[in-house]
Amino acid sequence: MTVKFGEPTSIVVPTVVTDRLILRCWRPGDIDPYAAMNADDETMRHLNGTFDRAATARLVDHLIGMWVLRGHGMWAVEDKATGEFLGRAGTYYADGWPGVEVAVSIRRDRWREGLGTEAIRAALDFGFTMLGVGELVTVTDQGNTGMNGIARKLGMVFRDVATVGPWKDNNVYAITRAEWETRTNG
Ligand SMILES: CC(C)(COP(=O)(O)OP(=O)(O)OC[C@H]1O[C@@H](n2cnc3c(N)ncnc32)[C@H](O)[C@@H]1OP(=O)(O)O)[C@@H](O)C(=O)NCCC(=O)NCCS
Repeated sequence: MTVKFGEPTSIVVPTVVTDRLILRCWRPGDIDPYAAMNADDETMRHLNGTFDRAATARLVDHLIGMWVLRGHGMWAVEDKATGEFLGRAGTYYADGWPGVEVAVSIRRDRWREGLGTEAIRAALDFGFTMLGVGELVTVTDQGNTGMNGIARKLGMVFRDVATVGPWKDNNVYAITRAEWETRTNG
């Protein structure tokens, strides 16, 4: 059998630096700390439950693949001060989504420090700067106080509760490019 590989594809995943975070491409060393988050019941309460290290490794492959296919995706989140892995954040799209979504997950011992808000603000900035989209959305469980709080804090407007698709019964928030620009430019 002869195996012929296609042309190698190179991608550049942009790095975004905020006040306290570095949003960057995934590294092999991220799998263990990310798997620990994905195995934590409280972290995964609103995200369809926990999963194991092997599934985490497959998820990371998938998240990196989105950058190749779509030119945007989810970053690993790193603590700028210490270099520690703190979670994942960025933009996400798949069939059945109500739009390009901004999403974040932060390591539980660092909740309530404003880091989720900081990461989503960067994802919105990135989305409106780099992608030709008129709006960005976020979809979250009605009981996810943290994510509902972040969406409202950043001026995302509650649109409706999804009635179909993978996010049935979840809150959908959206913000238009014009609304974001007014907000960021004053
Ligand atoms: C949702 C999540 C990202 C919030 O991250 P965070 O860094 O704690 O969020 P912030 O500190 O920026 O909080 C933003 C606002 O949300 C609200 N909030 C956050 N966590 C809250 C909680 N546990 N209870 C009540 N309000 C909360 C507050 O209004 C807060 O504003 P305040 O600090 O001015 O009071 C975090 O809880 C998480 O990673 N959860 C697991 C994964 C997940 O559900 N991700 C979202 C779906 S993609």
